[in-house]
Amino acid sequence: MKDRQLRTLPAEYLWDGLVLKDDIFNYTGKVLLLPKGETITRSRLEKLMGFYGDNQNIMVYEETYLELMSDEHVPAQARQKMMENHIGYARLHRSIGDLFERHDYDAWLNTEKLAPLIREVSARLENFDPVTILSCINFPRPMDEGLQRHSLNVALLNGMQAEWLGLPHDDVNTLVLAGLLHDIGKTMIPEEILNAPRRLTEEELAVMREHPRYSDELLKGKFEDNIRLAARHHHEKLNGTGYPDGISGDEVSFCARITAISDIYDAMVSARSYKEARLPLDVFDMFYEEEFDGLDRSLVITFLKNMRERYTNRPVMMSNGRRGEILYIPLNDADHPIIRQDDDIRQTDDGWYCKEILPLPGA
Ligand SMILES: [Fe+2]
Repeated sequence: MKDRQLRTLPAEYLWDGLVLKDDIFNYTGKVLLLPKGETITRSRLEKLMGFYGDNQNIMVYEETYLELMSDEHVPAQARQKMMENHIGYARLHRSIGDLFERHDYDAWLNTEKLAPLIREVSARLENFDPVTILSCINFPRPMDEGLQRHSLNVALLNGMQAEWLGLPHDDVNTLVLAGLLHDIGKTMIPEEILNAPRRLTEEELAVMREHPRYSDELLKGKFEDNIRLAARHHHEKLNGTGYPDGISGDEVSFCARITAISDIYDAMVSARSYKEARLPLDVFDMFYEEEFDGLDRSLVITFLKNMRERYTNRPVMMSNGRRGEILYIPLNDADHPIIRQDDDIRQTDDGWYCKEILPLPGA
């Protein structure tokens, strides 16, 4: 039998007409509220929940939890919160938030202090399916959370890439750490430029582009060189058009090349005030079409190959408001996957496209 762990869920996420595939319990997990096979009605649920006063939570088995989470009846924001709690992303995000807000660099900016955090990030990568992790990464977020979330996301994406490349455990951890610290120099950038809810002026952009140099200064002497160089060079391009040093080719280290891909992916799927967030499939297409120049093409192809594999067979919400399943993602046209919706199997187009990738029940 599969894991029968119980999980807490607000009762409001159950909807009228839902037929229970499994038992549901009260918030303690000890009292059976409704047995499987029953149909939920609002009035029945309200009556049951009336006994529990302020605590309007219920407990359901893990499989039910994941299935409910992937349902369109649950609002996207709520679903996101549940997913973040489920994989422990929310807790990691809070720990990282503390570090970034303290600004007491000497106190925590060292390998030893960060080791437990890196172990926790690596544990997420080992225990959860990448698309489940990516569903937290891909979610649009408010700008004031930007740096913490971005740092965690780049750490997770670096770790995924390292695993897909078959790197040894120590190198995976090094890349996770490099991802976590790559933008630490942004904590030295004035708040009004860092969080400007608009496009930056030329002068402001010049200030912003100093952040890799600041990262380098903060990390120098405290971390091994490849972590420091990933931070300094994650905006460099192989064709020499990047910043801050304008280096090219072999001068751009392996860790910096990996971090550059994670950095761009996360920036593209996040919502910034001056642009809309993009669906992962659109971003894969942009990578394939080389819209971001100067990246390491062989690393980009490994990234795309693995992402396509992970997203195949995933449930999606289509533009007609009904669910579908991704059957195939063309490498050279990732934003037009082949979708199955009931008996209909065809390639998406402007009139029928994926709106959201849903978590896989049982992920
Ligand atoms: Fe950066």
